[in-house]
Amino acid sequence: MTIRTFVTIASIAGAVAALAVIVPVRAGGDKVAFPENHAAGVLFTTVDRADNKQFREFYTSAAALDAAKKGEPLPSGTVITMLQYAAKLDAQGNPEKDANGRFIKGNLIGYAVMEKRAGWGAEYPDNVRNGEWEYQAFKADKSVNTGANLSACFNCHKPLDKQDFVYLYDKRVGPGREGCHSRCRDADGSNGRRRQPIPRHCRA
Ligand code: HEC
Repeated sequence: MTIRTFVTIASIAGAVAALAVIVPVRAGGDKVAFPENHAAGVLFTTVDRADNKQFREFYTSAAALDAAKKGEPLPSGTVITMLQYAAKLDAQGNPEKDANGRFIKGNLIGYAVMEKRAGWGAEYPDNVRNGEWEYQAFKADKSVNTGANLSACFNCHKPLDKQDFVYLYDKRVGPGREGCHSRCRDADGSNGRRRQPIPRHCRA
């Protein structure tokens, strides 16, 4: 190798290294930006979680809800945002209930977000990949929750492959099955991990 070739290669390598610093490759959960405008979408359901005493709100786009109604995969660009609130507790430390028997929301604890884009997910092995979804968790101040275990998100949503990896895929806006389904989730105490038989009225 001549000195000139060596210098050329070295400077190319240097330029590539510099580029890598300037343009970091976004991977995994870093692809998911904080969903600033989630509230402009649809609050499509809420969930009381007895296990961790949380009240949760779920937002997504009208387009995603339309696709789910038709039983189709959710469109590229879909973002689903979960707002996690501490349930208001009584003196005994149990969640208080409102007139409808639902938890009452207290302080915002954080956000769990899933986002789907065409081409995402290709780098994951089949036993991990959740289609084109990526996951991210944010703290109440909207910064990334670096303590979150994003592998756990993939693992727990993975079995939902028949409904595009989304637990609440069959949720409807407005009157419909919501009341039934929240009772069903309470009945199985598990939100999808069926430890007890699902009541017959919920199986429709
Ligand atoms: C142990 C299982 C489990 C893990 C781990 C988990 N989820 Fe979920 N996720 C659920 C269940 C069950 C629901 C249905 C709503 C509920 O019960 O709160 C859900 C719902 C969601 C939703 C609303 C869309 C849907 O699938 O219904 C989002 C967004 C979400 N999870 C994001 C995340 C993120 C981000 C992580 C990781 C930081 C994560 N989840 C980890 C079980 C899990």
